[in-house]
Amino acid sequence: MSHQKVVLLDGRGVGDDDLSPVLETLMDELRSSGATVQTFPLKDIKMGSCIGCFSCWIKTPGLCVEPDAGRDIVQAIVQSDVTILFTPVTFGGYSSEIKKIQDRWIPLVLPDFCIHHGEVHHLPRYSHYPRLVGIGIQRQPNDMEANLFNVLVGRNALNFHAPTYAAEVILSTDRSDRVRQQLQKVLIRKDPFPVKKVVKSLMPMAESTTMTVPVMATPGRALLIVGSPRVKSSSSSGILGGYVLEQLKQRGWETESLTLRGHLLKGVGQAKFLTTVDQADLILFAFPLYIDSLPFLMMRSLEVMAKHLSAHSQESPKRLFAIANNGFPEAHHNALALAICQQFALDTNMVWLGGLAVGAGTVVCQNPPVEGLRQAGRPPMKHGIQALDIVSASLAEGQSVPPKAAKLMAKTPIPLMLFSLWRWLFVTMAKWGWRRGAAINQVGAKDLLAQPYGTV
Ligand SMILES: Cc1cc2nc3c(=O)[nH]c(=O)nc-3n(C[C@H](O)[C@H](O)[C@H](O)COP(=O)(O)O)c2cc1C
Repeated sequence: MSHQKVVLLDGRGVGDDDLSPVLETLMDELRSSGATVQTFPLKDIKMGSCIGCFSCWIKTPGLCVEPDAGRDIVQAIVQSDVTILFTPVTFGGYSSEIKKIQDRWIPLVLPDFCIHHGEVHHLPRYSHYPRLVGIGIQRQPNDMEANLFNVLVGRNALNFHAPTYAAEVILSTDRSDRVRQQLQKVLIRKDPFPVKKVVKSLMPMAESTTMTVPVMATPGRALLIVGSPRVKSSSSSGILGGYVLEQLKQRGWETESLTLRGHLLKGVGQAKFLTTVDQADLILFAFPLYIDSLPFLMMRSLEVMAKHLSAHSQESPKRLFAIANNGFPEAHHNALALAICQQFALDTNMVWLGGLAVGAGTVVCQNPPVEGLRQAGRPPMKHGIQALDIVSASLAEGQSVPPKAAKLMAKTPIPLMLFSLWRWLFVTMAKWGWRRGAAINQVGAKDLLAQPYGTV
């Protein structure tokens, strides 16, 4: 790695000091290889989190509208030869510190779509991207979470056109010579890209498909946590989750809904948030897919909830259901994020009731909203509505998501249309939509292609 420019994103959070010896060995290895290393200790850097406004595509193309340290880090990343993500493995994903900066990577690609390794992804904005290396640390071995972590790094590498990538999960308690060997290997290894088949296979089944769900008295109390940062306007997550919650309410459940905001996860806000969590029998997560995983505030809320639940035993196990929606037309991109939710359920002794993956979320939910479509009784959301109805009926009985619902939801939203045609239509319409959005901001079609960080 001699003369290579390396950016090291240190994703340790508060209480992760025990991971320092591995980080020091990594630094040592990098220095002795002759690389120039720029380290970002993320928890000490003040920056905003992505609010999902897409201004970085259609208002200030290539630049986040927030002129803070996040911009500098993203610039350093795209100008590096290798970017390393150093993080505790968090339910199979990254720490919230990594997620905060990673959600801000989207200006590095163009809004337009392309077919890349057989799936829809974004077109590159720059001609060169860094190699991606993920180093995840576990305190106890957990093969399932280690596998999710490795796939996640690979999926990010695909999404961001990395020329190569490698991922390694290291045990914090391992002997230092073994840690060093693992680090030496991962720094030079090239792992195979995890394409469609790999991520599809991660779609987590509900527990009832492998074991009986414990009985619960229904109706109970349900809490919807909407994980989209788009809280000013109604998000697809809010529409999808709200639809299920309303059906539970109609079946006699007590319901509560909250959108995640930063203040909820600290101080007094956090205490209130955790009381609401404690009172719920059933928790529903509804969130958008952000960079192949859960958005920053969702990851932060999982960390906060897990810490609380491990210290406060619950009378009866809570149930968890999750609905993820994404921007690309293929629903399977969400499988990894849903598998992370399942690991969270396992780690916190919740009963996993299953998940639903919704492709092309913005298009199918917001043009017009679900309820409007239901009344008009027309596509494209017909199968989706059926799926949500089936799910709501099962959840109301304390039961898990029937596989039929997940299959219906994954169907092409326009009945009888071949997926390839739907995908072509989607890519074409999106191109037009982004240009229309840019024109409203007086941004021309050519300006959308700006490379504010230079022709790297
Ligand atoms: C920061 C960011 C990252 C995203 N990453 C992905 C991604 O990796 N894959 C994908 O299919 N869509 C991705 N999307 C698109 C969102 O998942 C999509 O727009 C979703 O419908 C938004 O849902 P919401 O209205 O509930 O926020 C991303 C969007 C943003 C803002």
